Amino acid sequence: MTKKLWGGRFQKGTDTLTDDFNSSISFDARLYKQDIQGSIAHAKMLGRQNIITENESKTIVKTLQEILKDIENNQIHFSIDMEDIHMNIESILTERIGDTGKKLHTGRSRNDQVATDMRLYVKDICSEMIDLIKLFGNTLLDIADKNTTTIMPGYTHLQRAQPITFAHHLLAYVEMVKRDMIRFKQTSDMADSLPLGAGALATTTYPLDRYFVAQELGFKGVCLNSIDAVSDRDFCLDFLESVSILMMHLSRLAEEVVLWCSAEFHFVTLDDAFSTGSSIMPQKKNPDIAELVRGKTGRTYGDLISLLTTMKGIPLAYNKDMQEDKEPIFDAFDTAKICIKTITKMMASMHINQNEMHEAAKGGFSNATDAADWLVKHGLPFRDAHGIVGQLVYYCIENHKTLDSLSLEEYQAIDPIFDRTIYEAIDLKTCVNQRNIVGGPAKTIVKRAIAINRNFLK
Ligand code: ARG
Repeated sequence: MTKKLWGGRFQKGTDTLTDDFNSSISFDARLYKQDIQGSIAHAKMLGRQNIITENESKTIVKTLQEILKDIENNQIHFSIDMEDIHMNIESILTERIGDTGKKLHTGRSRNDQVATDMRLYVKDICSEMIDLIKLFGNTLLDIADKNTTTIMPGYTHLQRAQPITFAHHLLAYVEMVKRDMIRFKQTSDMADSLPLGAGALATTTYPLDRYFVAQELGFKGVCLNSIDAVSDRDFCLDFLESVSILMMHLSRLAEEVVLWCSAEFHFVTLDDAFSTGSSIMPQKKNPDIAELVRGKTGRTYGDLISLLTTMKGIPLAYNKDMQEDKEPIFDAFDTAKICIKTITKMMASMHINQNEMHEAAKGGFSNATDAADWLVKHGLPFRDAHGIVGQLVYYCIENHKTLDSLSLEEYQAIDPIFDRTIYEAIDLKTCVNQRNIVGGPAKTIVKRAIAINRNFLK
Protein backbone atom coordinates (compact mmCIF):
# COMPACT_ATOMS: atom_id res chain seq x y z
CA MET A 1 0.00 0.00 0.00
CA THR A 2 1.58 3.22 -1.16
CA LYS A 3 0.59 6.64 0.06
CA LYS A 4 -2.09 8.09 -2.19
CA LEU A 5 -1.81 11.53 -3.78
CA TRP A 6 -4.99 12.33 -1.87
CA GLY A 7 -3.87 10.54 1.30
CA GLY A 8 -3.57 13.57 3.64
CA ARG A 9 -6.79 13.18 5.55
CA PHE A 10 -6.49 9.40 5.91
CA GLN A 11 -5.05 7.54 8.87
CA LYS A 12 -4.80 4.26 7.08
CA GLY A 13 -4.01 2.98 3.60
CA THR A 14 -6.57 1.41 1.31
CA ASP A 15 -7.32 -2.28 1.29
CA THR A 16 -5.83 -4.08 -1.71
CA LEU A 17 -9.35 -5.05 -2.72
CA THR A 18 -10.28 -1.37 -2.73
CA ASP A 19 -7.30 -0.64 -4.95
CA ASP A 20 -8.28 -3.40 -7.38
CA PHE A 21 -11.90 -2.41 -7.40
CA ASN A 22 -11.45 1.34 -7.53
CA SER A 23 -8.59 1.66 -9.97
CA SER A 24 -9.11 2.22 -13.66
CA ILE A 25 -5.51 2.18 -14.83
CA SER A 26 -5.94 -1.28 -16.37
CA PHE A 27 -8.19 0.30 -18.99
CA ASP A 28 -7.78 4.08 -18.88
CA ALA A 29 -4.04 3.82 -19.63
CA ARG A 30 -5.10 4.25 -23.23
CA LEU A 31 -5.91 7.87 -22.50
CA TYR A 32 -2.24 8.63 -21.82
CA LYS A 33 -1.80 10.77 -24.92
CA GLN A 34 -4.87 12.90 -24.34
CA ASP A 35 -4.03 13.18 -20.64
CA ILE A 36 -0.55 14.47 -21.37
CA GLN A 37 -1.83 16.81 -24.08
CA GLY A 38 -4.30 18.27 -21.59
CA SER A 39 -1.67 18.62 -18.88
CA ILE A 40 0.76 20.34 -21.22
CA ALA A 41 -1.86 22.91 -22.22
CA HIS A 42 -2.81 23.44 -18.58
CA ALA A 43 0.83 23.87 -17.50
CA LYS A 44 1.52 26.36 -20.31
CA MET A 45 -1.49 28.36 -19.25
CA LEU A 46 -0.48 28.31 -15.56
CA GLY A 47 2.87 29.80 -16.60
CA ARG A 48 1.36 32.48 -18.84
CA GLN A 49 -1.01 33.51 -16.05
CA ASN A 50 1.84 33.64 -13.51
CA ILE A 51 0.12 31.06 -11.35
CA ILE A 52 3.36 29.11 -11.51
CA THR A 53 6.66 30.53 -12.79
CA GLU A 54 7.59 30.48 -16.44
CA ASN A 55 10.50 28.14 -15.57
CA GLU A 56 8.29 25.73 -13.66
CA SER A 57 5.88 25.69 -16.55
CA LYS A 58 8.66 24.91 -19.01
CA THR A 59 10.09 22.14 -16.85
CA ILE A 60 6.68 20.52 -16.51
CA VAL A 61 5.97 20.71 -20.24
CA LYS A 62 9.35 19.34 -21.19
CA THR A 63 9.12 16.47 -18.71
CA LEU A 64 5.60 15.58 -19.80
CA GLN A 65 6.86 15.37 -23.37
CA GLU A 66 9.60 13.01 -22.22
CA ILE A 67 7.10 10.90 -20.31
CA LEU A 68 4.96 10.66 -23.45
CA LYS A 69 7.94 9.37 -25.41
CA ASP A 70 8.81 6.90 -22.69
CA ILE A 71 5.26 5.57 -22.60
CA GLU A 72 5.31 5.12 -26.34
CA ASN A 73 8.60 3.28 -26.10
CA ASN A 74 7.12 0.97 -23.48
CA GLN A 75 9.43 2.25 -20.79
CA ILE A 76 6.81 3.13 -18.23
CA HIS A 77 5.13 0.83 -15.80
CA PHE A 78 1.81 2.11 -14.52
CA SER A 79 0.87 1.24 -10.99
CA ILE A 80 -2.48 0.22 -9.61
CA ASP A 81 -1.68 2.13 -6.43
CA MET A 82 -1.89 5.31 -8.44
CA GLU A 83 -5.44 4.39 -9.39
CA ASP A 84 -5.84 5.93 -12.82
CA ILE A 85 -3.94 7.39 -15.74
CA HIS A 86 -4.17 10.93 -14.35
CA MET A 87 -2.49 10.18 -11.03
CA ASN A 88 -0.02 7.77 -12.59
CA ILE A 89 1.29 10.45 -14.91
CA GLU A 90 1.30 13.10 -12.21
CA SER A 91 3.26 10.85 -9.87
CA ILE A 92 5.82 9.97 -12.56
CA LEU A 93 6.19 13.69 -13.23
CA THR A 94 6.79 14.36 -9.55
CA GLU A 95 9.27 11.49 -9.29
CA ARG A 96 11.24 13.17 -12.07
CA ILE A 97 11.11 16.85 -11.11
CA GLY A 98 10.12 16.86 -7.45
CA ASP A 99 8.08 19.72 -6.02
CA THR A 100 7.61 21.43 -9.39
CA GLY A 101 5.64 18.40 -10.55
CA LYS A 102 3.32 18.82 -7.61
CA LYS A 103 2.27 22.21 -8.96
CA LEU A 104 0.70 20.85 -12.15
CA HIS A 105 -2.62 20.11 -10.49
CA THR A 106 -3.10 23.76 -9.40
CA GLY A 107 -6.57 24.95 -10.35
CA ARG A 108 -7.53 21.55 -11.71
CA SER A 109 -9.43 18.49 -10.55
CA ARG A 110 -9.44 14.99 -11.92
CA ASN A 111 -13.09 15.65 -12.67
CA ASP A 112 -12.45 18.31 -15.30
CA GLN A 113 -9.27 16.49 -16.31
CA VAL A 114 -10.98 13.21 -17.13
CA ALA A 115 -13.82 14.98 -18.91
CA THR A 116 -11.23 16.78 -21.04
CA ASP A 117 -9.33 13.57 -21.78
CA MET A 118 -12.51 11.80 -22.81
CA ARG A 119 -13.58 14.62 -25.10
CA LEU A 120 -10.17 14.69 -26.78
CA TYR A 121 -10.30 10.92 -27.12
CA VAL A 122 -13.81 10.85 -28.58
CA LYS A 123 -12.85 13.54 -31.08
CA ASP A 124 -9.84 11.45 -32.12
CA ILE A 125 -11.77 8.23 -32.57
CA CYS A 126 -14.57 9.99 -34.44
CA SER A 127 -12.08 11.11 -37.03
CA GLU A 128 -10.66 7.60 -37.20
CA MET A 129 -14.15 6.19 -37.73
CA ILE A 130 -14.85 8.74 -40.47
CA ASP A 131 -11.69 7.67 -42.33
CA LEU A 132 -12.67 4.00 -42.07
CA ILE A 133 -16.19 4.74 -43.30
CA LYS A 134 -14.80 6.62 -46.28
CA LEU A 135 -12.67 3.63 -47.18
CA PHE A 136 -15.62 1.28 -46.86
CA GLY A 137 -17.93 3.57 -48.86
CA ASN A 138 -15.38 3.94 -51.64
CA THR A 139 -14.96 0.17 -51.78
CA LEU A 140 -18.71 -0.19 -52.28
CA LEU A 141 -18.54 2.46 -55.00
CA ASP A 142 -15.76 0.53 -56.76
CA ILE A 143 -17.92 -2.59 -56.81
CA ALA A 144 -20.98 -0.60 -57.85
CA ASP A 145 -19.07 0.98 -60.71
CA LYS A 146 -18.39 -2.47 -62.14
CA ASN A 147 -21.99 -3.61 -61.73
CA THR A 148 -24.24 -0.89 -63.14
CA THR A 149 -25.63 -3.41 -65.64
CA THR A 150 -25.63 -6.41 -63.31
CA ILE A 151 -29.32 -7.13 -63.03
CA MET A 152 -30.58 -8.76 -59.85
CA PRO A 153 -33.94 -9.09 -58.19
CA GLY A 154 -34.87 -6.40 -55.71
CA TYR A 155 -36.79 -7.83 -52.76
CA THR A 156 -39.60 -6.92 -50.45
CA HIS A 157 -40.54 -9.43 -47.73
CA LEU A 158 -37.53 -11.37 -49.07
CA GLN A 159 -39.72 -12.20 -52.08
CA ARG A 160 -38.55 -11.17 -55.52
CA ALA A 161 -40.21 -7.83 -56.26
CA GLN A 162 -38.73 -5.77 -59.10
CA PRO A 163 -35.50 -5.95 -61.06
CA ILE A 164 -32.70 -3.63 -59.99
CA THR A 165 -28.94 -3.71 -60.46
CA PHE A 166 -26.32 -4.80 -57.97
CA ALA A 167 -24.85 -1.29 -58.20
CA HIS A 168 -28.15 0.24 -57.18
CA HIS A 169 -28.44 -2.17 -54.27
CA LEU A 170 -24.95 -1.29 -52.99
CA LEU A 171 -25.65 2.42 -53.30
CA ALA A 172 -28.36 1.97 -50.67
CA TYR A 173 -25.57 1.02 -48.23
CA VAL A 174 -23.52 3.99 -49.37
CA GLU A 175 -26.41 6.26 -48.33
CA MET A 176 -26.44 4.62 -44.90
CA VAL A 177 -22.76 5.09 -44.29
CA LYS A 178 -22.90 8.68 -45.50
CA ARG A 179 -25.35 9.30 -42.68
CA ASP A 180 -22.99 7.44 -40.35
CA MET A 181 -20.21 9.79 -41.34
CA ILE A 182 -22.39 12.78 -40.53
CA ARG A 183 -23.30 11.21 -37.20
CA PHE A 184 -19.65 10.83 -36.21
CA LYS A 185 -19.00 14.40 -37.26
CA GLN A 186 -21.89 15.57 -35.08
CA THR A 187 -20.58 13.47 -32.21
CA SER A 188 -17.22 15.12 -32.60
CA ASP A 189 -18.91 18.54 -32.51
CA MET A 190 -20.72 17.54 -29.31
CA ALA A 191 -17.36 16.78 -27.72
CA ASP A 192 -15.78 19.97 -28.99
CA SER A 193 -15.91 22.17 -25.85
CA LEU A 194 -13.30 22.36 -23.11
CA PRO A 195 -14.23 21.24 -19.57
CA LEU A 196 -10.90 22.27 -17.95
CA GLY A 197 -11.41 25.19 -15.61
CA ALA A 198 -14.55 23.60 -14.20
CA GLY A 199 -12.40 22.16 -11.41
CA ALA A 200 -14.18 19.62 -9.23
CA LEU A 201 -17.50 21.27 -10.06
CA ALA A 202 -17.42 24.98 -9.22
CA THR A 203 -14.36 26.28 -11.12
CA THR A 204 -11.51 27.81 -9.16
CA THR A 205 -10.24 31.05 -7.64
CA TYR A 206 -7.12 31.07 -9.85
CA PRO A 207 -7.30 33.35 -12.89
CA LEU A 208 -7.25 30.53 -15.43
CA ASP A 209 -7.35 31.39 -19.12
CA ARG A 210 -9.74 28.74 -20.39
CA TYR A 211 -9.82 30.13 -23.92
CA PHE A 212 -6.06 29.75 -24.23
CA VAL A 213 -6.29 26.11 -23.12
CA ALA A 214 -9.18 25.48 -25.51
CA GLN A 215 -7.17 26.87 -28.37
CA GLU A 216 -4.07 24.87 -27.44
CA LEU A 217 -6.11 21.66 -27.43
CA GLY A 218 -8.08 22.45 -30.58
CA PHE A 219 -11.46 22.83 -28.90
CA LYS A 220 -13.94 25.11 -30.63
CA GLY A 221 -15.17 26.55 -27.36
CA VAL A 222 -15.31 26.14 -23.58
CA CYS A 223 -18.04 24.48 -21.52
CA LEU A 224 -20.23 27.26 -20.21
CA ASN A 225 -21.38 25.68 -16.96
CA SER A 226 -18.85 24.12 -14.63
CA ILE A 227 -21.30 21.61 -13.18
CA ASP A 228 -22.36 20.35 -16.58
CA ALA A 229 -18.74 20.35 -17.74
CA VAL A 230 -17.83 17.62 -15.25
CA SER A 231 -21.16 15.74 -15.36
CA ASP A 232 -21.80 15.56 -19.08
CA ARG A 233 -21.19 12.31 -20.92
CA ASP A 234 -23.68 12.96 -23.73
CA PHE A 235 -20.83 13.00 -26.22
CA CYS A 236 -19.92 9.46 -25.11
CA LEU A 237 -23.51 8.36 -25.62
CA ASP A 238 -23.53 10.05 -29.02
CA PHE A 239 -20.46 8.07 -29.93
CA LEU A 240 -22.03 4.81 -28.78
CA GLU A 241 -25.21 5.62 -30.67
CA SER A 242 -23.23 6.42 -33.83
CA VAL A 243 -21.38 3.11 -33.49
CA SER A 244 -24.60 1.20 -32.86
CA ILE A 245 -26.29 2.57 -35.96
CA LEU A 246 -23.19 2.04 -38.10
CA MET A 247 -23.00 -1.54 -36.82
CA MET A 248 -26.70 -2.04 -37.55
CA HIS A 249 -25.99 -1.05 -41.15
CA LEU A 250 -22.97 -3.34 -41.42
CA SER A 251 -25.01 -6.12 -39.87
CA ARG A 252 -27.75 -5.82 -42.49
CA LEU A 253 -25.17 -6.03 -45.24
CA ALA A 254 -23.51 -8.96 -43.48
CA GLU A 255 -26.87 -10.72 -43.30
CA GLU A 256 -27.37 -10.23 -47.02
CA VAL A 257 -23.90 -11.58 -47.77
CA VAL A 258 -24.69 -14.66 -45.67
CA LEU A 259 -27.81 -15.21 -47.76
CA TRP A 260 -26.14 -14.40 -51.07
CA CYS A 261 -23.32 -16.87 -50.63
CA SER A 262 -25.65 -19.74 -49.78
CA ALA A 263 -26.18 -22.36 -52.49
CA GLU A 264 -29.83 -21.26 -52.61
CA PHE A 265 -28.89 -17.76 -53.80
CA HIS A 266 -25.34 -18.15 -55.06
CA PHE A 267 -25.22 -14.45 -55.94
CA VAL A 268 -21.68 -14.04 -54.63
CA THR A 269 -18.69 -16.21 -53.83
CA LEU A 270 -16.54 -15.18 -50.92
CA ASP A 271 -12.82 -15.19 -51.37
CA ASP A 272 -11.14 -18.08 -49.54
CA ALA A 273 -9.15 -15.55 -47.54
CA PHE A 274 -12.39 -14.29 -45.99
CA SER A 275 -14.12 -17.62 -45.39
CA THR A 276 -13.68 -20.43 -42.93
CA GLY A 277 -14.12 -24.19 -42.90
CA SER A 278 -15.82 -26.70 -40.67
CA SER A 279 -14.00 -29.03 -38.33
CA ILE A 280 -16.27 -31.92 -39.26
CA MET A 281 -17.85 -31.26 -42.67
CA PRO A 282 -15.10 -31.21 -45.28
CA GLN A 283 -17.25 -29.53 -47.94
CA LYS A 284 -18.12 -26.45 -45.90
CA LYS A 285 -17.09 -22.91 -46.70
CA ASN A 286 -18.67 -20.62 -44.17
CA PRO A 287 -19.22 -16.86 -44.10
CA ASP A 288 -17.92 -16.49 -40.52
CA ILE A 289 -16.68 -12.94 -41.10
CA ALA A 290 -20.12 -11.70 -42.10
CA GLU A 291 -21.73 -13.62 -39.26
CA LEU A 292 -19.34 -12.16 -36.72
CA VAL A 293 -20.02 -8.62 -37.92
CA ARG A 294 -23.71 -9.38 -37.46
CA GLY A 295 -23.03 -10.96 -34.08
CA LYS A 296 -20.76 -8.24 -32.73
CA THR A 297 -23.42 -5.64 -33.44
CA GLY A 298 -25.17 -6.89 -30.31
CA ARG A 299 -22.30 -6.08 -28.02
CA THR A 300 -22.09 -2.51 -29.29
CA TYR A 301 -25.79 -2.09 -28.46
CA GLY A 302 -24.85 -3.45 -25.03
CA ASP A 303 -22.19 -0.75 -24.71
CA LEU A 304 -24.76 1.94 -25.45
CA ILE A 305 -27.36 0.56 -23.07
CA SER A 306 -24.72 0.06 -20.40
CA LEU A 307 -23.70 3.74 -20.34
CA LEU A 308 -27.26 5.02 -20.73
CA THR A 309 -28.15 3.01 -17.65
CA THR A 310 -25.11 4.18 -15.72
CA MET A 311 -25.93 7.82 -16.41
CA LYS A 312 -29.63 7.80 -15.74
CA GLY A 313 -29.62 7.98 -11.95
CA ILE A 314 -26.55 9.93 -10.93
CA PRO A 315 -26.99 13.28 -9.23
CA LEU A 316 -24.91 16.27 -10.27
CA ALA A 317 -21.99 16.66 -10.43
CA TYR A 318 -19.21 14.04 -10.74
CA ASN A 319 -19.77 10.57 -9.29
CA LYS A 320 -17.42 7.64 -9.54
CA ASP A 321 -20.07 5.74 -11.52
CA MET A 322 -18.88 7.81 -14.45
CA GLN A 323 -15.59 5.93 -14.53
CA GLU A 324 -17.76 3.25 -16.16
CA ASP A 325 -17.95 5.38 -19.32
CA LYS A 326 -14.59 4.16 -20.55
CA GLU A 327 -14.86 0.45 -21.19
CA PRO A 328 -18.03 0.73 -23.31
CA ILE A 329 -16.40 3.45 -25.40
CA PHE A 330 -13.20 1.45 -25.87
CA ASP A 331 -15.08 -1.75 -26.61
CA ALA A 332 -17.47 -0.12 -29.08
CA PHE A 333 -14.60 1.58 -30.87
CA ASP A 334 -12.45 -1.56 -31.04
CA THR A 335 -15.40 -3.62 -32.23
CA ALA A 336 -16.59 -1.19 -34.88
CA LYS A 337 -13.05 -0.65 -36.12
CA ILE A 338 -12.21 -4.33 -36.65
CA CYS A 339 -15.66 -4.99 -38.14
CA ILE A 340 -15.57 -2.23 -40.73
CA LYS A 341 -11.96 -2.93 -41.66
CA THR A 342 -12.66 -6.62 -42.19
CA ILE A 343 -15.96 -6.26 -44.00
CA THR A 344 -14.32 -3.73 -46.33
CA LYS A 345 -11.71 -6.27 -47.41
CA MET A 346 -14.26 -9.07 -47.54
CA MET A 347 -16.45 -7.05 -49.89
CA ALA A 348 -13.53 -5.96 -52.05
CA SER A 349 -12.41 -9.56 -52.58
CA MET A 350 -15.87 -11.07 -53.06
CA HIS A 351 -16.75 -12.46 -56.48
CA ILE A 352 -20.06 -11.32 -57.96
CA ASN A 353 -21.94 -14.09 -59.79
CA GLN A 354 -23.61 -11.87 -62.34
CA ASN A 355 -25.31 -14.69 -64.26
CA GLU A 356 -26.94 -16.15 -61.15
CA MET A 357 -28.23 -12.73 -60.17
CA HIS A 358 -29.65 -12.27 -63.65
CA GLU A 359 -31.26 -15.71 -63.66
CA ALA A 360 -32.87 -15.01 -60.30
CA ALA A 361 -34.26 -11.72 -61.61
CA LYS A 362 -35.89 -13.60 -64.49
CA GLY A 363 -37.88 -15.74 -62.09
CA GLY A 364 -40.46 -14.65 -59.58
CA PHE A 365 -42.32 -12.42 -62.07
CA SER A 366 -40.19 -9.46 -61.07
CA ASN A 367 -41.31 -7.72 -64.30
CA ALA A 368 -45.03 -7.99 -63.50
CA THR A 369 -45.26 -4.32 -62.49
CA ASP A 370 -43.87 -3.39 -65.89
CA ALA A 371 -46.53 -5.47 -67.65
CA ALA A 372 -49.16 -3.58 -65.66
CA ASP A 373 -47.50 -0.27 -66.50
CA TRP A 374 -47.64 -1.24 -70.21
CA LEU A 375 -51.41 -1.61 -69.89
CA VAL A 376 -51.67 1.75 -68.12
CA LYS A 377 -49.71 3.38 -70.95
CA HIS A 378 -52.30 1.84 -73.29
CA GLY A 379 -55.19 3.49 -71.49
CA LEU A 380 -56.22 1.17 -68.67
CA PRO A 381 -56.64 2.39 -65.10
CA PHE A 382 -53.83 0.99 -62.90
CA ARG A 383 -56.16 -1.10 -60.72
CA ASP A 384 -57.59 -2.90 -63.77
CA ALA A 385 -54.11 -3.39 -65.20
CA HIS A 386 -53.02 -4.89 -61.87
CA GLY A 387 -55.93 -7.35 -62.06
CA ILE A 388 -55.16 -8.42 -65.61
CA VAL A 389 -51.49 -9.03 -64.92
CA GLY A 390 -52.52 -10.92 -61.80
CA GLN A 391 -54.52 -13.27 -64.06
CA LEU A 392 -51.51 -13.61 -66.39
CA VAL A 393 -49.27 -14.51 -63.46
CA TYR A 394 -51.77 -17.07 -62.24
CA TYR A 395 -51.92 -18.57 -65.76
CA CYS A 396 -48.11 -18.72 -65.87
CA ILE A 397 -47.90 -20.47 -62.49
CA GLU A 398 -50.52 -23.03 -63.55
CA ASN A 399 -48.73 -23.68 -66.85
CA HIS A 400 -45.12 -23.41 -65.62
CA LYS A 401 -44.37 -20.38 -67.77
CA THR A 402 -42.93 -16.92 -67.31
CA LEU A 403 -44.31 -13.62 -68.63
CA ASP A 404 -41.52 -13.57 -71.25
CA SER A 405 -42.30 -17.05 -72.52
CA LEU A 406 -46.05 -16.52 -73.04
CA SER A 407 -47.13 -16.33 -76.69
CA LEU A 408 -48.94 -13.27 -77.93
CA GLU A 409 -52.07 -15.47 -78.31
CA GLU A 410 -51.86 -16.37 -74.64
CA TYR A 411 -51.58 -12.67 -73.75
CA GLN A 412 -54.47 -11.77 -75.98
CA ALA A 413 -56.61 -14.58 -74.57
CA ILE A 414 -56.53 -12.71 -71.29
CA ASP A 415 -56.84 -9.26 -72.85
CA PRO A 416 -56.98 -8.51 -76.58
CA ILE A 417 -55.30 -5.15 -76.04
CA PHE A 418 -51.85 -6.80 -75.86
CA ASP A 419 -49.50 -6.49 -78.84
CA ARG A 420 -45.87 -7.39 -79.56
CA THR A 421 -44.43 -4.34 -77.80
CA ILE A 422 -45.23 -6.01 -74.46
CA TYR A 423 -42.10 -8.17 -74.82
CA GLU A 424 -39.81 -5.17 -75.05
CA ALA A 425 -41.58 -3.53 -72.09
CA ILE A 426 -41.03 -6.50 -69.79
CA ASP A 427 -37.46 -7.14 -70.80
CA LEU A 428 -35.43 -6.87 -67.58
CA LYS A 429 -33.06 -4.36 -69.08
CA THR A 430 -35.98 -2.14 -70.04
CA CYS A 431 -37.50 -2.54 -66.58
CA VAL A 432 -34.30 -1.24 -64.99
CA ASN A 433 -33.37 1.46 -67.46
CA GLN A 434 -36.86 2.95 -67.76
CA ARG A 435 -36.68 3.69 -64.05
CA ASN A 436 -34.57 6.69 -64.78
CA ILE A 437 -35.87 9.31 -62.42
CA VAL A 438 -33.56 10.51 -59.70
CA GLY A 439 -33.01 7.83 -57.07
CA GLY A 440 -33.66 5.02 -59.55
CA PRO A 441 -31.71 1.99 -60.80
CA ALA A 442 -31.20 3.09 -64.45
CA LYS A 443 -27.57 2.96 -65.43
CA THR A 444 -27.33 6.71 -66.22
CA ILE A 445 -28.83 7.61 -62.86
CA VAL A 446 -26.64 5.19 -60.92
CA LYS A 447 -23.50 6.46 -62.67
CA ARG A 448 -24.41 9.98 -61.62
CA ALA A 449 -25.08 8.82 -58.04
CA ILE A 450 -21.68 7.13 -57.94
CA ALA A 451 -20.01 10.37 -58.98
CA ILE A 452 -21.89 12.39 -56.34
CA ASN A 453 -20.97 9.86 -53.66
CA ARG A 454 -17.33 9.76 -54.70
CA ASN A 455 -17.22 13.45 -54.05
CA PHE A 456 -18.94 13.09 -50.67
CA LEU A 457 -16.58 10.31 -49.59
CA LYS A 458 -13.40 12.06 -50.73
N1 ARG B 1 -10.63 7.62 -12.92
C1 ARG B 1 -11.64 8.59 -12.72
C2 ARG B 1 -12.72 8.45 -13.80
O1 ARG B 1 -12.45 7.86 -14.76
C3 ARG B 1 -11.07 9.95 -12.76
C4 ARG B 1 -11.87 10.98 -12.01
C5 ARG B 1 -11.83 10.70 -10.57
N2 ARG B 1 -12.41 11.75 -9.81
C6 ARG B 1 -12.72 11.59 -8.52
N3 ARG B 1 -13.27 12.60 -7.93
N4 ARG B 1 -12.53 10.47 -7.89
O2 ARG B 1 -13.82 8.92 -13.67
